[in-house]
Amino acid sequence: MKPVKVGLLGLGTVGTGVVRIVEGHQEDLASQVGSPIVIEKILVQNKNKARNIAIDQDKLTEDPWDIIRHPDIDVIVEVMGGIGLTKEFILEALALGKHVVTANKDLMALHGPEILAKAQENRCDIMYEASVAGGIPIIRTLVEGFSSDRINKIMGIVNGTTNFILTKMSQEGASYLDVLKEAQELGYAESDPTSDVEGLDAARKMTILATIGFRANVALEDVSVQGISSVTKEDILYAKRLGYEVKLLGIAERQDDLISISVQPTMVKQSHPIASVNGVFNAVYVYGEAVGETMFYGAGAGELPTATSIVSDLVAVVKNLKLGVNGMQGSLAYKEKKLKTDDQISSKYFLLLKVADRAGVLARITQVFADFEVSLESVLQQPTPSNPEAEIIIITHDANKAAIQKVLATFESLEVVHKVKSVYRVEG
Ligand code: NAP
Ligand code: HSE
Repeated sequence: MKPVKVGLLGLGTVGTGVVRIVEGHQEDLASQVGSPIVIEKILVQNKNKARNIAIDQDKLTEDPWDIIRHPDIDVIVEVMGGIGLTKEFILEALALGKHVVTANKDLMALHGPEILAKAQENRCDIMYEASVAGGIPIIRTLVEGFSSDRINKIMGIVNGTTNFILTKMSQEGASYLDVLKEAQELGYAESDPTSDVEGLDAARKMTILATIGFRANVALEDVSVQGISSVTKEDILYAKRLGYEVKLLGIAERQDDLISISVQPTMVKQSHPIASVNGVFNAVYVYGEAVGETMFYGAGAGELPTATSIVSDLVAVVKNLKLGVNGMQGSLAYKEKKLKTDDQISSKYFLLLKVADRAGVLARITQVFADFEVSLESVLQQPTPSNPEAEIIIITHDANKAAIQKVLATFESLEVVHKVKSVYRVEG
């Protein structure tokens, strides 16, 4: 049994996990694919860096071409991250007929179509299960498990850092900045947390999921993105009082051929299963026309969960190698996308307003909603210490995004509305 030789680009958190699983599960893996899987060479930036895994020093290289152009290496596993150079390495590997497994959501969200086309041109596999929701096999589920169905909605907590922050704010009543600091100290949030907290990481993952789920050529710029940095502990308190949790949700929806994709802090009804996904965990809820509701839950990051997805991809590539069917994935995104306009995107909304506390104010405010045909589900008013001012909480029935924007624009010039403190989409 000739071993299948793998070149690993990167030996950080995920790369170390890949080595552990390939070595630790060798017998099981070999029995599934019919030959041993061997990590032949590993690319690092600094060969002399201390590692928390014992590695044969001869396997390490600082020269990417040692691996990419290695004549005996059949599969490249890319876990170094980055976009520019990494794309060059992957395209070259595919051009040389090597199959590629990657965990790189940034690269796949931005350059997925080009990379997939290159793979197809060269009859190579490109697999990227670990790029979304770490250890949850959601890509394979969408591609294979739901191949017979039409998916109408994908709703996910796909960023663990922000879910950790929102969970702590909810459970401990802590402020956003205090929990962010704690997340950084625990190593969940990076020293520059922008990509996570401003929703960009989630948007990249939703680009990948929507492309696959709707079989359409979705691009990152199609995703409307709002992060969690403006979520306050007061908003979360109000949400809880009304029976909701605040979650950073990626939501991709389709009606007929029209789609919309967004990432935003969302008030989720506590009875919805996604509301109880806490801490760094991820979950993806998928609604299929035939299957109905399904939900997938698990670790969205970390050494071994992420490596599990990568090694499963590796097994799939090697099985294809044995069968001689690599590069037969076909086009995942064969449909031209048609994006919904704001007047076609519909959901419930939560609004928290600070208003003058005197006769007729509520009537003036509800009239604005009526003027734009937004129907209200519930209205709650309470006095505040700064009299004569009151806080009004409104939850609408399903309303289109354009109408809500018109309501908000009208409030700007309405003397009785002192401030629109918060606006959230509502789900569940
Ligand atoms: P990491 O810990 O920073 O490791 C990166 C590795 O790549 C290091 O071994 C580094 O070498 C090497 N490397 C980086 N740039 C290089 C270059 N230009 N030339 C040579 N070697 C280079 O990163 P990670 O957390 O494992 O993440 C890797 C990828 O997986 C990223 O795309 C990330 O988005 C994705 N991902 C990560 C997770 C997670 O839980 N961490 C989850 C899902 C997906 P040195 O060791 O010598 O510095
Ligand atoms: N920064 C990401 C998260 C890591 O917090 O979920 C996994 O992609």
